[in-house]
Amino acid sequence: MLQEKFNKIKQEIIDELKRTKTLEQLEDLNNKYFSRASGELTKLVKEIKNLAEEERPRIGKIANEVKKEAEELFAQVRSTLGDKVQGENKDKVFDPTLPGKKQAIGKLHVLTQIRREVEEVFLSMGFMVVDGPELESEWYNFEAVNVPSWHPARDMQDTFYIKANGKRQMAKVEGGEENYKLVMRTHTSNVQVRAMEKYGAPIRCIVPGRVFRNEATDARHEHTFHQVEGLMVDKDISIANFKAVMDAIIKAILGPDFKTRIRPGFFPFVEPGFEVDLSCALCQAKGCRVCKNTGWVEFCGAGMVHPNVLKAGGVDPTKYSGFAFGFGLERLAMMRYGINDIRLFESGDLRFLGQF
Ligand code: PHE
Repeated sequence: MLQEKFNKIKQEIIDELKRTKTLEQLEDLNNKYFSRASGELTKLVKEIKNLAEEERPRIGKIANEVKKEAEELFAQVRSTLGDKVQGENKDKVFDPTLPGKKQAIGKLHVLTQIRREVEEVFLSMGFMVVDGPELESEWYNFEAVNVPSWHPARDMQDTFYIKANGKRQMAKVEGGEENYKLVMRTHTSNVQVRAMEKYGAPIRCIVPGRVFRNEATDARHEHTFHQVEGLMVDKDISIANFKAVMDAIIKAILGPDFKTRIRPGFFPFVEPGFEVDLSCALCQAKGCRVCKNTGWVEFCGAGMVHPNVLKAGGVDPTKYSGFAFGFGLERLAMMRYGINDIRLFESGDLRFLGQF
């Protein structure tokens, strides 16, 4: 029956159009059904004249409907595919009237910015900036700075040890005979002895860098953070020199009115040792979660370099003395900008980072 043939061809067209991906395929399909000489739909329409006369008007009507519907479907698909092609070519066509493309401009991480400022200040005071390894032998990280393996201070700086299961993971101490396990350095103090070995005394250097601790993280603690170590060794160096240097850096970074205090503190690599606290800028020293409600934030460990450390670095403690300190860059940035959670720095959150 002709009527069924029309319904069948309509369904065929619908199915084939669904599979059509390009304008070329669409044109082929158009020819297949509508070409004057051999189009399948054209052929069907021609068959109408062979029908009995009383059948012709009814089937003719169906034929027209099918043709009209098919043409509409073709038009729809043509327009969708056309849009797609235009979209693909959009970048290839240069339209000088369009507004320029916005270039996303990155910027330095807030810690990098502040680190560079700190470096400038120390350079101006005659310090050099030196670097050291983040994966360090136990020797430089602990033993050389007077922290033997049995010392309880090891617990203060619990860290990530590297499994000693390969050659590369065993460090041979320069001049030493033993192999030492490797640790992610817990502080930048690992460079104290390295720097003295390399440059001797007198020496004035800072060591900015990343350090690692096995910490339960909270608003004040991160497992990965940044320190700036300082070391000044010369003849007749005293705590007064340290105070002057500390004052200079805090004035330069935080401004002249920032309050600090120095109190005794224990570190095996200094004698005497102290800690420098900053008055908490987040709560105007009223007490908050960052300052543990004390109004003060621990900022810097420091002290006069222990004779054992000078010796480890090949410096004669009877001739030279010096001070060393290590402070957290994050804490400095937190106080300067009023950042209330240390975890933001490593979060990679652009809403945070974009503000600096
Ligand atoms: N290395 C100590 C720490 O990470 C800080 C410090 C450095 C203390 C130098 C004294 C001297 O806590």
